[in-house]
Amino acid sequence: MRVVGVISPRGRLRRTPSPLRESEYRKLRTTFNTMSEDERTSWNRRYREKSHLSLAPDPFLVQTYDEFIHPLFPRGREALDVAGGVGRHALFLAQRGWRVTLNDISEVGIDQAKAAADKRGLRGIEYVVCDTSEFNFGRARYDLVFVFFYLERSLFPKLRKALRPGGLLVYKTYTHEHRKYGRGPAHPMYFLKDNELLHAFGDMRVLFYRETVKERGVAELVARR
Ligand SMILES: C[S@@+](CC[C@H](N)C(=O)[O-])C[C@H]1O[C@@H](n2cnc3c(N)ncnc32)[C@H](O)[C@@H]1O
Repeated sequence: MRVVGVISPRGRLRRTPSPLRESEYRKLRTTFNTMSEDERTSWNRRYREKSHLSLAPDPFLVQTYDEFIHPLFPRGREALDVAGGVGRHALFLAQRGWRVTLNDISEVGIDQAKAAADKRGLRGIEYVVCDTSEFNFGRARYDLVFVFFYLERSLFPKLRKALRPGGLLVYKTYTHEHRKYGRGPAHPMYFLKDNELLHAFGDMRVLFYRETVKERGVAELVARR
């Protein structure tokens, strides 16, 4: 493997000494730095077209809330919703007494989340519009961190560090099994490999893990720091 650059803390590609010609490097850098801009544009468009507007929480969050979140934190504390879109999960938790930080790259999605929260009189949500590579996850800041249908592997150590001792990580996204259904993300890098979440967070106490192979391939994880 040829290493041509490193990703800076701000998510930019910087060159390392390599045999790559300047023109090749520039092309690569432009491609990388425009990727998140493309994501933002394309999610803004989808949210404007109202194709991803559902505020119904994913059944796995509801189940996890009953089985783990509520029993461990009956009064609600601080949560982080990573790449949370229109905030269906942030709203669900805010309605149950949690203070939630909702992050997403799409300002249109976040505006819709804010409108939905205002309509319900929910004040416990902080909104942070930015690329996850620029988000400050901090250290031991949250009791609950959750990620649904978003995969950026470089964040895994940050998710773990952001949790307070005893805090919960809830993660659900597509596995490679999903590709046969011809829906979901286009690029193979957005699909989990077999057992990938289990291995990535195996140093935590895994309270729940499963992979499905029917209807759509997903992995679901609940792990405690
Ligand atoms: C499939 S949606 C899932 C939204 C939400 N987690 C849910 O389950 O309802 C993926 C989300 O990731 C966001 N996203 C994509 N790239 C991102 C990035 N680099 N930083 C932050 N958010 C990003 C999109 O704007 C979109 O809201």
